[in-house]
Amino acid sequence: MLVGKGGDYVTAKASAEETAGSYTVYEVLSSPGFGPPLHRHAWQECFYVLEGEFDFSFVEGGELRTVRAIPGTCFTIPAGAPHGFRNALAEGSRMLVIDQPVGVERMFDVHGVEVEAPGAEPAQEPLDPSRLAEILPRYGIELVEPRRLRGAERAARRALGCVVRRPARRARPRRGRSDVERRAMARIDEIVDGIYRIATPIEIPGGAFTFNQFLIDDERPALIHTGMHGLYDGVRDAVGEVLDPARLAYVTLLHFEADECGGMDRFLEAAPDSTLACSALSVDLNLSGWDYRGRVEGHRDGEVIDLGRRKLRFLETPHVHHWDSMMLFEETTRSLFPSDLFIQPGDQPPVVSEDLGSEMCAFYREMGIFAHEMPVREVVDRVESLDPAWVHGMHGGSLRREAVPGYVRALRDEPFAFDGKLLGRSLDGDG
Ligand SMILES: [Fe+2]
Ligand SMILES: [Fe+2]
Repeated sequence: MLVGKGGDYVTAKASAEETAGSYTVYEVLSSPGFGPPLHRHAWQECFYVLEGEFDFSFVEGGELRTVRAIPGTCFTIPAGAPHGFRNALAEGSRMLVIDQPVGVERMFDVHGVEVEAPGAEPAQEPLDPSRLAEILPRYGIELVEPRRLRGAERAARRALGCVVRRPARRARPRRGRSDVERRAMARIDEIVDGIYRIATPIEIPGGAFTFNQFLIDDERPALIHTGMHGLYDGVRDAVGEVLDPARLAYVTLLHFEADECGGMDRFLEAAPDSTLACSALSVDLNLSGWDYRGRVEGHRDGEVIDLGRRKLRFLETPHVHHWDSMMLFEETTRSLFPSDLFIQPGDQPPVVSEDLGSEMCAFYREMGIFAHEMPVREVVDRVESLDPAWVHGMHGGSLRREAVPGYVRALRDEPFAFDGKLLGRSLDGDG
């Protein structure tokens, strides 16, 4: 049936009658530009985009956000949470809408007009969309003024927590960029609820290699390592697919090196209220003698940054690559951010389940990034006792708990320390 002139074609896939009133499933084909204004209701709702693109509005942390939803995106809207959507394309866009318990069906029954197939002309005159504001409240759908979200209502909204899951999306290269920048395309994928991996594959001697940053979308969003200075545009654009980079509250670096913090000045410029959070040693050894002008916090082992839902605990791991090296452990998802430990060479997918432990050790020997095995193996014991559900390395893909033992075994049993080679170049015979 068609709901609203130039509006949504709605096909019941599971009606209230068929589910004894417990839920409904609709396939919706929205006409270009059509969609309901911001509203809320007492039932919960889930939207899954099948085809085309929608601009989807919802409330997060007391603020109204609009994101572009592509096929595979799923929005879970709790009961009472304001939301709205609009077909963003000049052609039809399709999605599945699941209401639980039954909600909007009564309104469709009364105001929808039958059509032969989605997109077909209706026999009767459909509802004029200008009457929606008058009609919707009769069916338990309250329209919400965006400005009413501010002020006193903010705190109440904060508790609602809409969930958005977005499929892998590869950022498109933009015209007018240099070859290097065009090659440096960042992709962003949500790995765990609200934790995104931003990955840029770069050719290095021996093949492709990914440089990853991690974005934690929270009340106080954090970016874990910035990437090199030259990657800034790609990384910032990837962050911008999830949230406004000006909202970043923390930029963290786990040791002082270009792929950890080369973009720190530029992220600071875009988010003037952000804080650079790193190890106490990174501050004492490096930042205090640099010309960095932003706010800096140096952390010691066990200190925690509270992002809202997520809690980032610092682990001091000296000489696991650098004097000032740290790792981060996100306590609520049990996610470890080990920086350069658990590397996998190659252009890896967002999640890796393969055991590339031996390849990792061979890569470390080739690059010469660890002076000695001993401090690394002590940290490996510590990582094992932490029992992380996820390991999000800076190079390669994220590892689920079940993939970690293969890498732990390799780090315990195989040599990986400096063996006379630096970035693949043998020092034998030098000097
Ligand atoms: Fe490093
Ligand atoms: Fe690195």
